Amino acid sequence: MLTGKRIILGVTGSIAAYKAAEIVRRLKSANADVTIVMTKAGMEFITPLTMQTLSCNPVYTETFVLQKDSRMAHIEVVKAADLFLIAPATANIIGKIAAGIGDDILTTIVLSAKCPVLIAPAMDSDMYENPIVQRNIAFLKERECRFIEPEEGELASGIIGKGRLADVDKIVSSVIDILVVKKDLKGEVVLVTAGPTREYIDPVRFISNRSTGKMGYAIAEAAKSRGAEVMLISGHSSLQRPKDVELINVVTADEMREEVMRNIERATIVIMAAAVSDYRPIKVSQDKLKKSGKDISMGFTEVPDILSEIGRNKGNRIIVGFAAETSDIINNAMYKLKEKNLDMIVANDVSDTDAGFEVDTNIVTIIDKDGIVAKLDKMPKKDVAHRIFDRIVNFKRRHLDSILR
Ligand code: CTP
Repeated sequence: MLTGKRIILGVTGSIAAYKAAEIVRRLKSANADVTIVMTKAGMEFITPLTMQTLSCNPVYTETFVLQKDSRMAHIEVVKAADLFLIAPATANIIGKIAAGIGDDILTTIVLSAKCPVLIAPAMDSDMYENPIVQRNIAFLKERECRFIEPEEGELASGIIGKGRLADVDKIVSSVIDILVVKKDLKGEVVLVTAGPTREYIDPVRFISNRSTGKMGYAIAEAAKSRGAEVMLISGHSSLQRPKDVELINVVTADEMREEVMRNIERATIVIMAAAVSDYRPIKVSQDKLKKSGKDISMGFTEVPDILSEIGRNKGNRIIVGFAAETSDIINNAMYKLKEKNLDMIVANDVSDTDAGFEVDTNIVTIIDKDGIVAKLDKMPKKDVAHRIFDRIVNFKRRHLDSILR
């Protein structure tokens, strides 16, 4: 399964370091090319000789080592890597990574890594629960590091608590999840809307909102990477067109509605991530409005709600809406889920500085019509996009099962 994948395995000074030998063995039997990097403390628990023998590659333990051609070894190693797994990871190494410290081979490599970083902590439960350690973990999660939660059980100190390195099976399957992209949307046609709409007042002025399209574009990319055919209907956005996705640009809510209706027949999954205007000016001036020296007021009329319209004629499609809220998030989202006849709704608090508009992260709760509520931590929008599809795939499977039963 991992043929052609290059994995760096970082081993740090935890009693669980001996389990790193089994991790290498398992990754190697899945055909991965594994290179080991060890901290000094890691070498107190397991020898580089063991790791070298199992990995069949040189083990890196020193920062200042030149290769035959005078290139820094650690820089070359990380350039080619598909994944950097750190297992076991101590509180110390997590703290250093969070602080941007590079004072040994392992931390130096993490600082220059462009590949995904997956961290499996192992430590005493008092350390794991320490608010500083938890803050470091939360901080790194926001910056695209992924974590495999430690398990509860008897620890080296004799205490029973959470801190034991996750099971090797779980670590290996997390690696596979990251490196082997699921194609579980093969055969699906996903229609995604993204970005803001603009409602013109005159030829140069419009009302709009702060949406940038980041969430919708991340959804389109995730759907594509999981094997779907994707149509992206986007309001104004300066984001790059996602690769191999059909992009349809629109400006106003009416145009967005028209394009959604024109393309919906082909869609098996619809995700309305766009921030569509609710109102437009009743009268659009053909000429630029001039200053009059007096206050002005303007009449607005409601624009049709696209999601409600497709919810009324949904057929077998899965329809997912977003709920942009600033208060009573879950209740408001549940109301929209029911009112618009949706299968799922993604609720987010757009007043939070790290969620909603203009930022790369989001904090969402996904609610489906079966009443399953999943509150997600703060994470990059591209991870949110994958979580939404995980839930859609699950939802489809559940409903298919109940039809077949
Ligand atoms: N939506 C839509 N057409 C509109 C307005 C909204 O299809 N004219 C969709 C959005 O794309 C989103 C969902 O409806 O998926 C909810 O949008 P939101 O702005 O949160 O709520 P509204 O239904 O517009 O209600 P309100 O603004 O009163 O909260």
